[in-house]
Amino acid sequence: MEQKGDLKFPVIAVNNADTKHFFDNRYGTGQSTIDGILRATNVLLAGKNFVVSGYGWCGRGIAMRARGMGANVIVTEISPLKALEAVMDGFSVLPLSDAAKIGDIFITATGNKNVLSEKHFKSMKDGAIMANAGHFNVEINIPALNKLAKKVRNVRGMVTEYTLKSGKKLYMLAEGRLVNLVAAEGHPPTVMDMSFANQTLCTQYIIKKGKELEPKVYDVPRDIDEMVARLKLASMNIRIDTLTAEQKKYIADWTAGT
Ligand SMILES: NC(=O)c1ccc[n+]([C@@H]2O[C@H](COP(=O)([O-])OP(=O)(O)OC[C@H]3O[C@@H](n4cnc5c(N)ncnc54)[C@H](O)[C@@H]3O)[C@@H](O)[C@H]2O)c1
Repeated sequence: MEQKGDLKFPVIAVNNADTKHFFDNRYGTGQSTIDGILRATNVLLAGKNFVVSGYGWCGRGIAMRARGMGANVIVTEISPLKALEAVMDGFSVLPLSDAAKIGDIFITATGNKNVLSEKHFKSMKDGAIMANAGHFNVEINIPALNKLAKKVRNVRGMVTEYTLKSGKKLYMLAEGRLVNLVAAEGHPPTVMDMSFANQTLCTQYIIKKGKELEPKVYDVPRDIDEMVARLKLASMNIRIDTLTAEQKKYIADWTAGT
């Protein structure tokens, strides 16, 4: 909107604050997505092939937590950088069309649409489970799944069974909506507090400085981000060290050292 000149007022991208996406997206979504899958299905994660599409902040949290439960985690990505990070974090990386053949549980966290689609449904194993923790209910192509199905029925509160014309059964959790919000309780307040603190402090900042800002997208001011981190640490009774005057001078001095 900014680039097209359609933005009529200044916007602060709170999601870009480190104290937002490092924590809410990663540890919040990581935990609550697993919680949603378990509450919906009571499936055993240990030993399962668990496919995570998207290795952004949410995806890496989900992958990390699924691995902790004993799942064999496979990551799919479109970004070479994120794929490389996933590999070096110790995950298998595959194109989704290959992962589709071996996955037991699929979870999307890409912010994109139709990530899991017709060709994947066709090659999935009987009994595969799908859920989304990313954007609305568009990451899994539900209309395409409906077209392939000869029978659709609800088999548990949050589980829809699709019997395909081939006879294979696939399972969708929470109608493809955000599984952590629909089938569980979302993130605990002890991680959302930082997101809400950013929103509140940025609202206060806009009230004070808004008139000086142009209709552009701004990052959260660094001092607000750091204040949120400091307050969070204090609330956890965790203290950290401070630089000595000598250290401050040393790290700011390009002529020092090699
Ligand atoms: N469930 C929740 O409570 C919750 C919380 C925070 C964010 N979100 C949502 O989750 C989504 C992801 O957020 P994020 O912070 O991880 O974003 P991000 O930008 O850090 O990560 C998204 C990743 O998906 C990858 N991607 C895009 N299209 C893809 C495709 N077709 N196949 C595979 N990978 C693909 C991108 O390369 C990127 O690495 C967003 O839509 C966000 O709004 C959900």
